[in-house]
Amino acid sequence: MIVQPLIRNNICVNAHPVGCAAAVASQIKYAQEKRAGRAAPREVPKTVLVVGASSGYGLASRITAAFGFGADTIGVSLEKEGSDYPTQITGTPGWYNNMAFDRAAKAAGLASVTFNGDAFSHAMRKQVVDAVKQAGKKIDLVIYSVASAVRVDPDTGELYRSAIKPIGEALTGETIDYATGKISTVSAEPATAEEAANTVKVMGGENWALWTRQLAHAGVLANGVKTVIYSYNGPAFSHAIYRDGTIGEAKRHLEETAKALDKELRATLEGEAYVSINKGAVTRTNAAIPTIPLYLSVLFKVMKERGTHEGCIEQMDRLFAERLYTGGPVPTDGNGLIRIDDLEMDPKVQDEVRKRMATITQENFAQVGDFKGYRHDFLAANGFDIDGVDYSADVPSMERF
Ligand SMILES: NC(=O)c1ccc[n+]([C@@H]2O[C@H](COP(=O)([O-])OP(=O)(O)OC[C@H]3O[C@@H](n4cnc5c(N)ncnc54)[C@H](O)[C@@H]3O)[C@@H](O)[C@H]2O)c1
Repeated sequence: MIVQPLIRNNICVNAHPVGCAAAVASQIKYAQEKRAGRAAPREVPKTVLVVGASSGYGLASRITAAFGFGADTIGVSLEKEGSDYPTQITGTPGWYNNMAFDRAAKAAGLASVTFNGDAFSHAMRKQVVDAVKQAGKKIDLVIYSVASAVRVDPDTGELYRSAIKPIGEALTGETIDYATGKISTVSAEPATAEEAANTVKVMGGENWALWTRQLAHAGVLANGVKTVIYSYNGPAFSHAIYRDGTIGEAKRHLEETAKALDKELRATLEGEAYVSINKGAVTRTNAAIPTIPLYLSVLFKVMKERGTHEGCIEQMDRLFAERLYTGGPVPTDGNGLIRIDDLEMDPKVQDEVRKRMATITQENFAQVGDFKGYRHDFLAANGFDIDGVDYSADVPSMERF
C-alpha cells in the first residue's frame, strides 16, 4: 500500500513504517557519532528504563542511553499495532519506532526489552520488575517521559482526562493550520477546577512516584540510581496556555514530587531525582496546543540562524553528556531543575523571537518563521518527509516492515 500523511485537526493520524525506521536510524547515527567524538565518560548508565520510550523525548533518551552510552534498555510505551488484513491501517509511529529500535539494539549487541502496555497500571510495573530480576540486573537510570491525555487510576479504576486549558480566563491565540497551510485563530475556554485537578492526576508526578517507589521496593534500583522526568517552561507569552494553565499545575506537581523522591532516594540508595526542563520540540503531543506551533516555527528560524537549533536527540545527548554523566554533581539552576532549555531561553534568542512574532501576518508567516522546518518535524514525527525514503513505493506490511 502507498502511505500518505492523513492530517485531522492538526494531528497526523497515520504513520509511515519505513519512514519511522529511517528516522530512528538517523537518531542512532547521531548518538553514535557523538559517542565516537568524545572521550570515554567517567561514568555511564548500564541499565536504563524509559517509561514513554517510543517517540519524542523518550525515544531520543532511549537511543542516547543505548547508542550514545552503551546501556541495555527497557522501554515501556502504549502504541497501536498496524493491521494488514482486512483494513490496511497503519499502526502508531511509536509502534514502528520500537521495532526499529529493538532491531538496531540487537544488531549492536545491546539488550533491549520493549513492553507495549499501560504505564499507569501496577501490572506494567510488575512486568518490568520481573524482567529486570530475571535478567539479574539493577536499573541505574529511570527516565519518565509519558505524555498522555488519559489515565486510569490503578487502585480505584477511575478514568481521568487531562486538558490543555488556561486557568481563570479564556484564551484566544493563533496557530498554524496544517490542512490549509494558513494561520488560524483558536480559542480555549478556562478550565474548571475539576479539569485542572484531573490534568494534575494524569500529567503530574503521581505515576512517576509510583514507578520509583515500586521499583525501589522490589529492590531493582541500583545504588546511585538517577531518575529524571521532563518538563517545559517556555516564553512568558505562552504561560497563559502552558505554565499558568492546567498543564503548568501538573508540571509544578512533578517538581514537588521530584523533591520528595530525591530525598527518599538519597536516604536509601544514594540516588537522585530531577526534573529536566527541555526545549520546545515538535513531537506528537504539542502540535495541537494553541500559539505553541507559531512560536516554535519562529524560534527554530532564529536558532537555526544562530547555529543553536536542537531537536530531541541533540537535547538528550546534551542531557546525558553535560548534565547526568559528567563524573561530578549534576548541574542545576537555583531551583534544583536541570536546564537544557538554556539555548532556547537565551535572552538574545527570546528578544529576537518576540520582535519577529510581532510582525507576523497571514501573508508572511511562512517566511518570518521556519514553517518549512516546522512542518518537516511535524511530518517526520510520523515517518513522513524523511530523506531517502521513497514515498511512492509500496509499503509491504502495516504490521511489520
Ligand atoms: N514536546 C515538547 O516540546 C516538550 C518540551 C519539553 C518537555 N516535554 C515533556 O516531555 C515528555 C514527553 O513528551 P513528548 O513530547 O516527547 O511526547 P510523545 O507524545 O512524543 O511521547 C509520549 C510517550 O508516552 C507514551 N505513553 C502515552 N500514554 C501511555 C500509557 N498509558 N502507557 C505507556 N506509555 C504511554 C507514548 O507511547 C510515548 O512513548 C512530557 O512530559 C512533555 O511534557 C515535551
